[in-house]
Amino acid sequence: MKDAILNLLKKSECSFLSGEEISSRLQVSRTAVWKHIQALREDGYTIESRSKVGYRLVTVPDRLYPGEITVGLKTRVIGSRIVYFDTIGSTNDKGKELAANGAPEGLVIVAEEQTTGRGRLGRTWSSPKGRGIWMSVILRPEINPMDAPKLTLLTAVALARTFDSYPGIQPGIKWPNDVFIKGKKIAGVLTEMNAELERINYVVVGIGVNVNTSRAELPPEIENIATSLYIETGKSWSRKDFLTKLLEELEALYLSFKMGEYAAVVEEWKKYSVTLNKKIKVTSPGVALEGTAVDLDDDGALIVRTRDGSLKRVVAGEITF
Ligand code: BTN
Repeated sequence: MKDAILNLLKKSECSFLSGEEISSRLQVSRTAVWKHIQALREDGYTIESRSKVGYRLVTVPDRLYPGEITVGLKTRVIGSRIVYFDTIGSTNDKGKELAANGAPEGLVIVAEEQTTGRGRLGRTWSSPKGRGIWMSVILRPEINPMDAPKLTLLTAVALARTFDSYPGIQPGIKWPNDVFIKGKKIAGVLTEMNAELERINYVVVGIGVNVNTSRAELPPEIENIATSLYIETGKSWSRKDFLTKLLEELEALYLSFKMGEYAAVVEEWKKYSVTLNKKIKVTSPGVALEGTAVDLDDDGALIVRTRDGSLKRVVAGEITF
């Protein structure tokens, strides 16, 4: 009901809508309308009220409320349900909990702030309140667990496409899934899955994007290696618009992946790559090698030519230049 009232206020744009009209359109009492208006104000909406005239929506808070996201979202699967938290430990942990309890494919968990945000390789992920997009998506693809890394690459491409739509921003992907702007990391993907030998039960794709984080808000240890859209452009951006575009790109890529059109994703990944043709060092469990990154194969593995000329296939790990 709260969302229905909000939508009516949004539709009437800047003009006043009487309490009587809201109550008759939505078939609720005037007292209920008033209570929902109070609740919306507590959520951060500024709603002007004038006696005998009605209510008028003045400002919308910078929050990723599900009602704000779904209203303009053109997806069928990804974001069909959005679960919102003001503050949470980690959206990936919540995603795993909900998925284990049967949550549907496409469910998105979004939080304004994470207190124990996690990155790859056991690192922490700084997630200050209201400054970025800290979200996870539950997927249930009918694929072999060995193919799950493809989802991570696909997500990196969705992120790159989204950044690409911002003026003056040229995103690059560092293998496997870090998104960089001018040599600094702006977004990352943490994919976790629950699978049997040949079957995936669920995948939780966690995405962190530094949108409006200021330099002072970056933890000192990443101050020189991380960035945000705000730092790059000198202005704040709507997190809601970024999230909407990201969910739409993610859905387009995921649906084509499900139809077997993965080769095009690999090609696009290569287009955005800042790794290919560079001299790199790879560190992954039990592997340490140096060479030139020459290609990405169809499974998303990095092909590295070592000094002796042999080609090595790397499926997981961390690279440095
Ligand atoms: C990385 O680059 O190391 C991956 C970072 C992933 C961060 C996101 S934020 C939302 C989701 N919840 C987490 O705890 N981590 C991911």
